[in-house]
Formats: sequence, C-alpha cells, structure tokens
Amino acid sequence: MASIIAGTGRATPETVISNQDLERRMDTSDEWIASRTGIRQRFLMRSGESLAEIAAQASRRALEKAGLSPAALDAIVVGTVSSEYAFPSFACQLQNLLGVNSIPAFDVAAACSGFVYALAVADFALRAGSFKRVLVVGADALSTMVDWTDRSTAVLFGDGAGAAVLASEPGPRGVLASLLRSSGELSDLLTLRATGVRSPLDAELRRSPDDALKMRGPELFKVAVRSMEEVTREVVERAGVRLDEIDLIVPHQANVRIINAIAQRLGLKPEKVFVNIERYGNTSAASVPIALDEAVEAGRINQGDLVLLIACGGGLTWGSSLIRW
Ligand code: ACO
Repeated sequence: MASIIAGTGRATPETVISNQDLERRMDTSDEWIASRTGIRQRFLMRSGESLAEIAAQASRRALEKAGLSPAALDAIVVGTVSSEYAFPSFACQLQNLLGVNSIPAFDVAAACSGFVYALAVADFALRAGSFKRVLVVGADALSTMVDWTDRSTAVLFGDGAGAAVLASEPGPRGVLASLLRSSGELSDLLTLRATGVRSPLDAELRRSPDDALKMRGPELFKVAVRSMEEVTREVVERAGVRLDEIDLIVPHQANVRIINAIAQRLGLKPEKVFVNIERYGNTSAASVPIALDEAVEAGRINQGDLVLLIACGGGLTWGSSLIRW
C-alpha cells in the first residue's frame, strides 16, 4: 500500500498587503523586497480572524477534491508553530471546526518544514496500516510574531493554510520516499520565543523585540540552499530514480533566490520548479501545501508525474518527500 494525495486545498486571510503598503509603514522599498526576495505582496491576518478557521477552509476544499467528508478521516496532523494556545492544540481546534471527534489530532512543530514533517509522519502511519485517510495541514501566521520595527524580517512573511488528504491505496502511485532532518546546533539561525497568534494589523500589538522572530538571514540563506539540495539528492537516490526524471519541484517559498540557487545546483530547468512567492511571501508551514494546491490547479501536475516537496525552517529542520502523483 502507498499513500496517495487524494485532494489538496488552500486558504488565506482576506487582507492583502503589497510592498507599496509596507513602504508607507517602514523604511523599505518595493524594489529592495522584490529584487532580494521575489515577494510582491502577502496576506496578513486581521485582528479577530482565526487561523484555525482559515485552515478549516483549506481542509474542506482538500476533502471536497478528494470526494470525502470529514467523517471519513482517521487522523489529523497539522504542521504549525502558530497555535493560538499551547493547548488545545491547533489540530484539536481544527478537528472541532470540522466536526470530527474522537480521531487522533495533533500538531507537529517544525517551523517552515512543518507540512513536509506532517506529511512524512502521516505517510509512516499509513504504511504501518494504522490509518487509511489522514488530513495533513500546514498553517502559520508568522506575520503576527515578527518585530514590525525590524525591516529585515517583517517584509518576508505572510499568513495562510494549505491542506492535503493522504489516502492509502495499492499500486505504483503515492509517496515513494521521505527524508526528515534536523540540527539543534543550528537553532540560533532562526528563533521565535513568542507563541500565540495575534494580528500585526492590530494597533495594540507590541511584542517585546526579544520575543519576536530573529533571523541570521545571510547565513540561513546558505544553509537553506545546502540542506534542501542535500535532501533532494538523498531522497531521489533512496527512491531509485534520477534527478532528471522529476517533473516538478514544489519547494518551500522563503526567497526566490534560494529556490533559484537550488535549481541551479541540481541542474534543473526553471520550468521544473514551482514558484508563487510573489503573491504570498513566506507562509512557513503553509507554503508547500499552498504551492502544491496551486500547481495542481494550474495543471502543472498530472497523474504519473514525479513531484518533489522540499522545505527548510527554524530548528533547524529540513526534509523532502518524493511523490508519484
Ligand atoms: N528594505 C530595505 N533594506 C533592507 C531591508 C528592507 N526590508 N532589510 C534589510 N535591508 C538592508 C540591510 O539593512 C542592509 O543594509 P546595509 O548594507 O546598509 O547594512 C542591506 O539591506 C543588505 O542586508 P542583507 O541582510 O545582507 O541582505 P540580503 O541580500 O542577505 O537579503 C534576506 C536579506 C532577504 C533576509 C536574505 O538573507 C534571506 O533571504 N535569507 C534567508 C532567510 C529566510 O529565507 N528566512 C525565512 C525563514 S527560513 C526558511 O524559510 C528557509
């Protein structure tokens, strides 16, 4: 039995903030942001909006495409570092919104690698025969946890959620191999001491700069390129396929220059790499499933295609999944 992706979905907050909007809030420019990161706009949570509600929308869309009702699920796994509370977990809140009780629901904290981690965990459980259908979600709202006086991080992040329904099926399709890696010794490259989602558009939000997201950008850039290249080469080898057989890479959308550097090192043509960072910014754990859903919708992924998901994030965490669609 293999784990196929039976349906995908995505959802974002309604408020779009362009680079020009940011120019009015801080000392930055559309030119700097677009040329250094590829980002043109991002969606931000407003005060009173619920990320769990947004994740529920993405989940319902994924379930609809899979032709399943929430009642068909055996488990819910959410990659997130943006739970509103320490507990109930984000997954339990989502479960309640979907109206499915008594199945296991839990969070996986791996920052921007959250969805790739959650997908691998779900795949391992499906292969072991424990579950047949698992809802895998990536949801984050890091814009609520950055220091809005720090232009070097505030411009990078956006909020949103993406979902995939993983289902057990016999045959050649499905997840061929997954690899998860982490390295605590690299933890100071990217840290976030604050927890709990609150809107950056809320005038009363004043995080202590010490609690906000802190990043050693240029060093992280190099590590992100190296680590995602490494897991790509390893997962391809583990699955017994060649790099040039990959039809589409759906990478974590942190910076278009990181994505281009990985593609160049791997010798892959730009058309084999999916990029949508210009419209979303870095949505952390939501970035891979949002991109995956858009790639499916745009007809960039067809049955039988070899699709590679890769991500890297705080922890440091990184990982990949190679999927025969
Ligand atoms: N607007 C205008 N100028 C800015 C801004 C801004 N928003 N932010 C920084 N600058 C300035 C700096 O002050 C600096 O000015 P100086 O030379 O006068 O001191 C100059 O721009 C260059 O700063 P650098 O940090 O060297 O810029 P760099 O080209 O490295 O780009 C960036 C910064 C985009 C953060 C890059 O390092 C990066 O993408 N790193 C990876 C980080 C990342 O993706 N993190 C996401 C989480 S981890 C992950 O998802 C993999």
